[in-house]
Amino acid sequence: MGEYQRTWRQSLDDPEEFWGDAARAIDWYTPPRMILDDSNAPHYRWFVGGEMNTCFNAVDRHVDAGRGDQTALIYDSPVTGVKESFTYDQLLDEVFRFAGVLRSLGVQQGDRVVIYMPMIPQAVIAMLACARIGAIHSVVFGGFAARELALRIDDAQPRVVVSASCGIEVNRVIEYKPLLDAALERTKYAPEHCVIYQRPQATATLLEGRDLDWNTLMEWAGPVECVAVKATDPLYILYTSGTTGRPKGVVRDNGGHAVALTWSMANIYNTHPGEVFWAASDVGWVVGHSYIVYAPLLAGCTTLLYEGKPVGTPDAGAFWRVIEEHRVKCFFTAPTGFRAIKREDPDGVLMHDYDLSHLQYLFLAGERTDPETYHWATEMLGVPVIDHWWQTETGWPIAANPMGLEPMVIKPGSATVPVPGYDVRIFDANRDLGRGPEGNIVIKLPLPPGCLVGVWGDDAKFFDAYLAAVPGYYVTGDGGHLDEEGYLFVMGRVDDVINVAGHRLSTGEIEEILASHVDVAECAVIGVNDELKGQVPRGLVVLKHGVTRDHQVIGAELVALVREHLGAVASLKTVDVVSALPKTRSGKVLRKVMRAMADGVEVIVPSTIDNPAVLDDLAVVLTPHATSP
Ligand code: COA
Ligand code: AMP
Repeated sequence: MGEYQRTWRQSLDDPEEFWGDAARAIDWYTPPRMILDDSNAPHYRWFVGGEMNTCFNAVDRHVDAGRGDQTALIYDSPVTGVKESFTYDQLLDEVFRFAGVLRSLGVQQGDRVVIYMPMIPQAVIAMLACARIGAIHSVVFGGFAARELALRIDDAQPRVVVSASCGIEVNRVIEYKPLLDAALERTKYAPEHCVIYQRPQATATLLEGRDLDWNTLMEWAGPVECVAVKATDPLYILYTSGTTGRPKGVVRDNGGHAVALTWSMANIYNTHPGEVFWAASDVGWVVGHSYIVYAPLLAGCTTLLYEGKPVGTPDAGAFWRVIEEHRVKCFFTAPTGFRAIKREDPDGVLMHDYDLSHLQYLFLAGERTDPETYHWATEMLGVPVIDHWWQTETGWPIAANPMGLEPMVIKPGSATVPVPGYDVRIFDANRDLGRGPEGNIVIKLPLPPGCLVGVWGDDAKFFDAYLAAVPGYYVTGDGGHLDEEGYLFVMGRVDDVINVAGHRLSTGEIEEILASHVDVAECAVIGVNDELKGQVPRGLVVLKHGVTRDHQVIGAELVALVREHLGAVASLKTVDVVSALPKTRSGKVLRKVMRAMADGVEVIVPSTIDNPAVLDDLAVVLTPHATSP
């Protein structure tokens, strides 16, 4: 039995011993009394009785260990031309002062702080400062518009919102403050203060009394030491799209998160103290939380914050420049980024200008790595290209090729094997299908440390959304199969969640916005295949009786409405007016049929369809090749 098999087995046979050992890699004020508390199954708790601080483990302890001069954070921003490095000493200085700022504004342990920021060091500093004082941060992705921000503020009810004057998208300055102001006009809940970091590219107007300037506050702030929090106390809330119009606030605890992420850095990513780890994502997504901010710092590595794109900042050689310049050992991004590079530089000509000899691994996630992208990246880079699968809910990989434990043979199209701690099964309803057939991917409880412990403010939602369907298992929402050797192939969502350029969006949420248009009677949003982004949303609307306005004008209004309310990141470019939506006799919209039509694959029309005639109309809109029954 290989090292991977042995470790994985042990993690499932004796999770308490396994994670009890792993927990020794972090510093505790009080060691846990109990490794796994299963007394309230299916709700499990890890490291009960333990007290620690995530910020202490990510920053202070490296300074205490004499590594204060090592670079902790590199900020590389081709969109502003700025490059900046923070040693662990310098990062500590920034973090403990910003913790002082939060304290001076009355933020206490357990209070929430919403962070709505672009990819600048202040976002990382604000997150760590919250962790330092036991406040719960909730980072909102900068690409979300006012309505999305407002939903999250109302749900998390933060004492303080931390934001910046602007973000920069390639060469476009996006002012954040007007978006924040618009969000606060919509919310029922009002935070006491907004702390605004003014960037030179735009100056935000501050509202006297409520809004405060980051730099001014930092001048006066006194340092604040780490507070001991319970391992089971929440570290953060991160909202993610589900099947409904309302995002779910995934709650992550402190202890399990720190232990799991520290374990992952050595065993999955094979990256160790002093080495450079780069996740080209955004702090607003889970990848950014886990692998830009927390994991590399917990492990004492150097992490990279990149404010740019794979292409256009300035060209398709941008990633290679960063890898060379900062000696990146382990690089993590989404396949869509590689497809963007391949489109502009198919022969990888720009790569030859750079020395990539420090790079040892490319990890990809956010969507399945299609074999074509896998082969291209492997051929170009000459290093292992590793597809690994995870979700906001788990916070770290469920399936991966554990490079630090035992590198496994790579099978293109597979996320390799379940990571120790995860007992992955394939189910059809309540039946375990074993190896071979395709089905719903579920994980036998308990989930390992680091995974979600609840949905903010809604225990019932946590149970209903993830645990109710298959007793004793967590339902991932993804479909796929395990092959005869236990390799996992994740084929896509089985619900109405879509993945657009590695960004997770809910079709239900977009539908809610379309339905709010005065002319719309009914609508459906489907995710259709896209060569660059993996999937993009497509809207179909039925107009109210008597509406005679031009369909193209209405379509354009609807596209603009989604951009205004959800944000540009929705990437909704097409909304078509149709006479009716295909439905079953019980009234269920047949999204799968429409998806197949749009993707140009075989259309299987269920016998329960109520209105088959509408398919002809849809075929004209969606694809000329679709077949009607
Ligand atoms: N703030 C404001 N707007 C944002 C934004 C942000 N933080 N992030 C994205 N947007 C905007 C973009 O400017 C774009 O606007 P446009 O329609 O006016 O051009 C829109 O949202 C869609 O963004 P995106 O889907 O990212 O498309 P893109 O064409 O700008 O870039 C890629 C495509 C592939 C280059 C880009 O998605 C990418 O770099 N992906 C790899 C990394 C990654 O995303 N990882 C996340 C998960 S690991
Ligand atoms: P998010 O919560 O934003 O990280 O999105 C999680 C979803 O992205 C998963 O449920 C999958 O649908 C998809 N996903 C992420 N990584 C992969 C992968 N390696 N292979 C297939 N799907 C993936």
